[in-house]
Amino acid sequence: MNMMKNLMTVSELDAKDISEMVRIARKFKNGKDVSLKKVKNKTLALIFQKPSTRTRLSFEIAMKQMGGNSIFLSESDLQISRGELMKDTARTLSEYVDIVAMRTYHNSDIQEFIDNSSIPVINALSNTNHPCQALSDIQTIIEEKKSLRNLKITWIGDSNNVLNDFLFAALKLGADFSIACPSKYSPNKGIIEVAKKIMKKNESSLSISTDPMKAVIDSDVVVTDKIVSMGDKNKEVKKKVFLPKYRVTDKIMSKAKDDAIFMHCLPAVRGEEVSESVIDGENSVIWQQVNNKLHMHKALIWSMLK
Ligand code: CP
Ligand code: NVA
Repeated sequence: MNMMKNLMTVSELDAKDISEMVRIARKFKNGKDVSLKKVKNKTLALIFQKPSTRTRLSFEIAMKQMGGNSIFLSESDLQISRGELMKDTARTLSEYVDIVAMRTYHNSDIQEFIDNSSIPVINALSNTNHPCQALSDIQTIIEEKKSLRNLKITWIGDSNNVLNDFLFAALKLGADFSIACPSKYSPNKGIIEVAKKIMKKNESSLSISTDPMKAVIDSDVVVTDKIVSMGDKNKEVKKKVFLPKYRVTDKIMSKAKDDAIFMHCLPAVRGEEVSESVIDGENSVIWQQVNNKLHMHKALIWSMLK
């Protein structure tokens, strides 16, 4: 496979790259024999400008279980906090470690790192993207529904970083995607343009509305995320626009198919974007999503290391 050197967004991957990543992640998950020679004693650095529970832990544990090491660096640990340039940080890390996962506000920081380093770089969440989450969520959907071709996926809530890469990945694999969000929080022009190009090539579809009750009809998968993302301003204003209309409740889920799954990347606020009964209900696959992050991160590290 022509594997990527860096991972900024899922839009850079082909449908077959996504399927291949899921195949490798499932091999790890099912305890199949995978040679770990190329990971042994290698070091992953995690540069995180924002908090994380799942992504940090699953990357660190993935590396450890594969025989490698990891070093976690919050921004305040680095000389970046005293003004050192990202390009000098990138050159420095290239001398010591083998692969980097970065959680930032701006993709430009990740791009600057990529442009000035000789090692693979993974976007572990930015304001506009969360490709690792999208890939492990696709794994969860494939485990549950076998294929995304003609599956109806409905996203209810904010058009955020998690949605962007999830949308690209789902459209690449042939899903019919529906988004219900307040018009002011619709995906921006740039995202729609990318989505249109993907749909043309992959016979998938996208509809956007402001009515969650209608959007969700006959869905196979219902997804949401927090209303307020890390770094968002005007938290209270945003909540007022979204609530209660865009909360995933039993009433909304009753419009989806009986075997529809509910997904949320976590962290969640029960009673805001989703009711407790839905997120902790029998159709919720949130813990499977959490678990799959470990296997997908193994697959990414393993594939990107030479
Ligand atoms: N889903 C996710 O990325 O969670 P964390 O912010 O805890 O890493
Ligand atoms: N949209 C959320 C995802 C957290 C994993 C955020 O950026 O805060």
